[in-house]
Amino acid sequence: MIKPDAVGAGNTGAIIKMIEEAGFRIIAMKKMHLTRERAGQFYAIHKERPFFNDLCTYMSSGPIVPMILEKENAVESFRKLIGATDPQKAEPGTIRNLFAKSIEANAIHGSDSDANAEIESNFFFSKLEQF
Ligand code: CMP
Repeated sequence: MIKPDAVGAGNTGAIIKMIEEAGFRIIAMKKMHLTRERAGQFYAIHKERPFFNDLCTYMSSGPIVPMILEKENAVESFRKLIGATDPQKAEPGTIRNLFAKSIEANAIHGSDSDANAEIESNFFFSKLEQF
């Protein structure tokens, strides 16, 4: 999911280019604007964290671009491509190193397991859109 800071800064195309050049196939993609409530549902796992309210406000502040991506070993490969959550700690040349503004407005989200990738894909896309 390309996040509101990166979409708002006009970096959607540059980020998609990096994703494709890294060998990912885009299975589904759209542009949409989350409500605060839907942002809270997506990040429900973080609801006890001190940054949860700000995260929901930020994630509903502008459009996002969710995608379903396919590649061998996709979860690990994508996490390498995007870099660490905190852009200060992200490797040079990673998406967050290049485009993130802060630990919160960090340009992009990647699923952390195959199981969560399926849950998160189903959050944004119906089976009809996927295939
Ligand atoms: P993401 O990888 O999408 O998963 C949870 C998100 O919460 C994270 O990216 C950031 O956008 C945000 N986040 C994580 N840690 C912090 C933090 N310490 N302060 C503020 N936001 C955070």
